Amino acid sequence: MADLKVIVTRRWPEIVETELQEMCGKGNVVLNKDDKPMTKDELKKALQEADCVLPTVTDPMDADVLGVSDMKCRFLGNFGVGFNHIDTDAAKKAKLVVTNTPEVLTDCTADIAMILMLTVARRAGEGERHVRAKEWVGWRPTHMTGTKVTGKTLGIIGFGRIAQAVAQRAHFGFGMNIIYFDPMSTAGEKFNAKKMDTVEDVLRDADFVSLHCPGGDATRHLINAERLKMMKPGAFLINTARGDIVDSQALIDALKGGTIAGAGLDVYEGEPNLNPGFLGLENAVLLPHLGSASNETRIAMGRRVL
Ligand code: DGY
Repeated sequence: MADLKVIVTRRWPEIVETELQEMCGKGNVVLNKDDKPMTKDELKKALQEADCVLPTVTDPMDADVLGVSDMKCRFLGNFGVGFNHIDTDAAKKAKLVVTNTPEVLTDCTADIAMILMLTVARRAGEGERHVRAKEWVGWRPTHMTGTKVTGKTLGIIGFGRIAQAVAQRAHFGFGMNIIYFDPMSTAGEKFNAKKMDTVEDVLRDADFVSLHCPGGDATRHLINAERLKMMKPGAFLINTARGDIVDSQALIDALKGGTIAGAGLDVYEGEPNLNPGFLGLENAVLLPHLGSASNETRIAMGRRVL
């Protein structure tokens, strides 16, 4: 391969870092060995110095960064499928090719949605804390009863690859009825799923609502106080997509006031600085953006960038 200077913005699995060095020549690749997030000024400098910059979900590649003068970079290879942190208009203006890593993280992200659904419904997070706190006094018929998942209705907003992998697990594994909103998709037939005309139709009928639409301006606060009120009081909200799809404060109020029964969250507005109001809520299950976090998947994501 021609001598291309490559800058990787965060640590990758070691095996893929080595493969990248073999592909481009060790001296041409700058790795982020201490994994410190790069500042906007450091990102700008990287764009001025490298032919290829390989960012990820934590890098704000906004119009300011991508508008840097004397840009050398021609290629942004994003480590991740979501690209709402990249201003694609600004990237186009800067004549950058931008790629992402679809498909390889579908199964693992769908697994995390199922984990959240089961954990919040069956109170498994609470139960774990209870045992560790030495509060458990033994089995009894009324202890920590939760909500049965099997046979319930799962409402899915956005019906792309990850959503369909969730539908597969939920319908064929847990006998759930699937309803979904996605004007672009007719894939529901595979799961005997019912396509709904509006987001509101899904919210009204579902026992569990799982979000699978992209983040960004078009979906910011799609789930707000008004829409949370449309959900059943016994329903649960699951978010493995992007934090800003949900108005955090509205969700905290809904969880505190019993508007809905619970939430399972892997992503947050302003993460990792999530709204502290979530921390004391027993009916919220909180994971640190683990959707794609298996060794196999993170290696596959790196190889997809390569
Ligand atoms: C992505 O790829 O967009 C995820 O959020 C990281 O797993």
